Amino acid sequence: MRAGHAAVAAFAGLALAAGVCGQEQSSSWTTFSPRGRETASPLLKRGEEAYQARCNLCHGRVAQDVKPGMGGRMAGTEALAIKYQGRKPAVLEDRTDLTADEVEYYVRHGSGIMPFFRKTEVSEADLDAIAAYLSRRRR
Ligand code: HEC
Repeated sequence: MRAGHAAVAAFAGLALAAGVCGQEQSSSWTTFSPRGRETASPLLKRGEEAYQARCNLCHGRVAQDVKPGMGGRMAGTEALAIKYQGRKPAVLEDRTDLTADEVEYYVRHGSGIMPFFRKTEVSEADLDAIAAYLSRRRR
């Protein structure tokens, strides 16, 4: 467990640094957006909203100041930090390698403790949007 925490902490630092360096189009605080929201298409906006609603509770950023037992743990982020050991970002939104097909597969089938989502939970249209949102950096 301690090794897991260290990996998550080390990884969160890396992800933060990468996020800051990867920042391309921030001109001021009002337009500051690592995800380029101000230029996002309706599809990507829908994907981001659905992602926030359905995925972010497990795949979001782990807050730096959360103490053990105080909540704020992210099952997906922590599992992926351990799985990839820093080779890939633990936060799904920071990934540049995800394809739409991969995202769709995991959402419909689940993996480990990740549940699968039925079409009544995440509609086909929402899944298309989520897949586009998470895979857009490949284009
Ligand atoms: C209950 C927590 C939880 C929720 C909600 C959740 N996930 Fe996951 N997800 C996980 C965990 C944990 C893993 C790692 C599973 C493993 O180790 O096999 C994972 C793995 C993944 C992976 C595989 C990444 C890789 O490289 O292995 C993808 C893609 C993914 N999730 C996408 C999503 C999307 C999109 C949603 C929202 C529709 C979502 N997840 C919702 C917990 C969750």
